[in-house]
Amino acid sequence: MDEKLVIFDTTLRDGEQSPGISLDVAEKLEIAEQLARLNVDYIEAGFPVASQGDFDAVQAIARQVHGSIIAALSRTQLRDIDRCWEALRDAERARIHIFISTSPSHMEHMLKMDRQQVLTETRNSVAHARNYTDDIEFSPQDATRTPLDFMLEVLQAAVTAGATTLNIPDTVGYGIPWDFGALIQYVKTQVKGDYVISTHCHNDLGLATANSLAGIQAGARQVEVCINGLGERAGNAALEEVVMAVKIRPDQFPGITTQIHTEEIARTSRLVSRLTGYPIQYNKAVVGRNAFAHESGIHQHGVLADRETYEIIDAQSVGQKGSQIVLGKHSGRHAFSETLKNMGFEVHGEALNQAFFRFKDLADRKMEITEADLEALVADEISTDAENAYSLLELEVVGGTVGTPTARVVISRDGEILEAKADGNGMIDAAGKAIQKATGLSTKLIGFTVSSVTGGEDAQGEVVVQLESGDFKVSGRGVSTDVVEASTRAYLNAVNRLSRSMARRETRNIEVGP
Ligand code: KIV
Ligand code: ZN
Repeated sequence: MDEKLVIFDTTLRDGEQSPGISLDVAEKLEIAEQLARLNVDYIEAGFPVASQGDFDAVQAIARQVHGSIIAALSRTQLRDIDRCWEALRDAERARIHIFISTSPSHMEHMLKMDRQQVLTETRNSVAHARNYTDDIEFSPQDATRTPLDFMLEVLQAAVTAGATTLNIPDTVGYGIPWDFGALIQYVKTQVKGDYVISTHCHNDLGLATANSLAGIQAGARQVEVCINGLGERAGNAALEEVVMAVKIRPDQFPGITTQIHTEEIARTSRLVSRLTGYPIQYNKAVVGRNAFAHESGIHQHGVLADRETYEIIDAQSVGQKGSQIVLGKHSGRHAFSETLKNMGFEVHGEALNQAFFRFKDLADRKMEITEADLEALVADEISTDAENAYSLLELEVVGGTVGTPTARVVISRDGEILEAKADGNGMIDAAGKAIQKATGLSTKLIGFTVSSVTGGEDAQGEVVVQLESGDFKVSGRGVSTDVVEASTRAYLNAVNRLSRSMARRETRNIEVGP
């Protein structure tokens, strides 16, 4: 008989805790909509008590995203749980996820609580949350460094008080597959009651996926995962890796199935990468651009004769199909918006006008426009468009090996025209400095990557920049067939995020985060 493996996606909560990621409400909503299309069982949308921004995002997702169950994180404090529920209450179905640290080091240095206090907090918080919903998850934080006897006592207290899912977080990525699997099995045999066991594995030793799989084999029926393996420090187990491992190896996971629409994996991965500014490593399993590329002649020959000679996953099954040519320079506005719709993009109003304008411009420079080209191009214009204060009107650069590189930019800020000229140690540097002058925002470039969206001489370049300003870190992305223009767009995209972050400067009002 088939047994369901529950996929609990925490990209918007733990994933957002990756250094340098800061998503606004519109961006979180867009990711949540796509996660629902991917058909994850749970979307952990945030940690409502952490900030007003987190609260707003959880509430918006709870109100607008259908299909998946919406979860949110809470400490054991009763007022945190009330706030968590306030954000969740309008969801079709909702889960409260409560955590408290149980390892000696966390209890001594962070909580300043003894065992009895942690047990009392556990009982009271779970019982309180049960007044709101009967879907309660409980996590003993830093479980893998918690003495076994105490962890079992806490877990039993949580189940007795009404928790329905027991999550075992390997908070610092300390687990080793066979050891972590044994832990899951032990909990299952020792803790009495009706509950689902879950894994939450961090990747500090590069073992998050392996540990999650060991957990499943030992009886876990929920896995907590992030798209592209995002998350605190080295990240969490990657959704795409765990889901595909279970699917590709039924001999190892007999009868265990997920409800994931795997064809949506690649698109979800690209969307998350784009909005977080975290590039996907080329050789990343399942979603990397090289995951289905064959370099050596022998491999190419084999794959042409029969795909399975060197591929264990069908690229189509994870949405990594070959780049299809979808539009050309004669395509009109109707064909353009229909194509976007078929690709799953809802673009309207000014964003559609801008995207169409840029498509026409691209079609003049590039013979064939593929899905990947379109996706890269329209992504700049959607979702955050309404909130973009600055947009690029003109860019003029002079560079080369003779003379000083200079750039002139003309930018519109809510209708006001700003113009500035600057020198730099290259054209991209000059353009960045001109933007700083025009906007009056002083920033430092701390990361820069460039890659091509598709192949060929007329390929679009995609640039991702990371900027720092005071204690803000933001990323931005831009595409164009001209790398200097792509860089300028990426720079301005990051400046827009920076000005939004500054405007809504959130005082994260708690210090002990998950
Ligand atoms: O890593 C961790 O311990 C967590 C918990 C809040 C589940 O993210
Ligand atoms: Zn975590």
